[in-house]
Amino acid sequence: MNIKHIAIIGAGAVGSGITQVCAASGYRVTMIDIYPQALEKGLATIQKSLGKLAEKGRITAGQQSAALEAIATSGDLAAAARADLVIEAATENPDLKLRVFRELDALTRPEIILASNTSSISLTKIGAATKRPDKVVGMHFFNPVPLMTLVEVVRGLGTSAETVAATVELSQKLGKTPIEVNDSPGFISNRILCPMINEAIYALMEGVGTREAIDGVMKLGMNHPMGPLTLADMVGLDVVLFVMEVLHRDLGEDKYRPCPLLARMVDAGYLGRKSGRGFYQYS
Ligand SMILES: NC(=O)c1ccc[n+]([C@@H]2O[C@H](COP(=O)([O-])OP(=O)(O)OC[C@H]3O[C@@H](n4cnc5c(N)ncnc54)[C@H](O)[C@@H]3O)[C@@H](O)[C@H]2O)c1
Repeated sequence: MNIKHIAIIGAGAVGSGITQVCAASGYRVTMIDIYPQALEKGLATIQKSLGKLAEKGRITAGQQSAALEAIATSGDLAAAARADLVIEAATENPDLKLRVFRELDALTRPEIILASNTSSISLTKIGAATKRPDKVVGMHFFNPVPLMTLVEVVRGLGTSAETVAATVELSQKLGKTPIEVNDSPGFISNRILCPMINEAIYALMEGVGTREAIDGVMKLGMNHPMGPLTLADMVGLDVVLFVMEVLHRDLGEDKYRPCPLLARMVDAGYLGRKSGRGFYQYS
């Protein structure tokens, strides 16, 4: 498959990161978002990140400007029409994603791959919303995308082996390490990570230890780079709650029950770093 031009849907934290990585790997990229402010913010984030990489000598000044020149932006989904592949990284909302995929299916050439960066929505379901389920695949990047090497390549029930192979190849060309996963709630990453964080919150709620004790045990005893409560603040407590609700509902087991303290904190607006307060305070 000859991919030269990639369209990225969503210019948020992850969409802008994917745009940067694709542009820095030699692809022409169109970053699309419905909000002009999101496009401006996404571009500013990319400029800052490329600047830092150049300062550290990880890319040359020439590579920095070539990457920036490779990026176009648009507020209209129709700008994806000429792309050779689409990666969707819009807001995590099932109705929104299904609508975007229906529109992309109608807009783009029938032979191109439509990938989604969803963290929790079924790729089988997204594929079924299109007339090309064999060409719909998960490309689950991790935040911050320029620094994290993993891409979970998620195979929906209808995804073809050719699509998976092409997605693995593209991920490698982007300098990432792809790992193939079958479509199941939370895939591998969130199926394991979110219940661990949820359990840490239960331990806090039940008074097994302080937040520092819980984070300290997992850092020093398990060699995790940060404790689960610190990580929850980074990921966003609303995101952790949403994934736990998906696991609980779709797998139907009590062990995935979201911790009541997690739900209370989300109700209070204590979402972690992004709101200035989660398990810790941020200025
Ligand atoms: N944040 C993470 O750590 C992380 C990690 C892996 C995967 N993801 C997934 O990536 C996706 C994006 O997450 P994010 O954290 O970047 O979210 P975000 O809120 O930072 O960005 C989402 C962007 O999508 C835009 N958008 C909404 N509707 C749109 C539409 N119809 N067309 C075009 N753009 C639209 C929004 O304006 C926003 O700028 C989600 O599916 C999320 O689950 C997030």
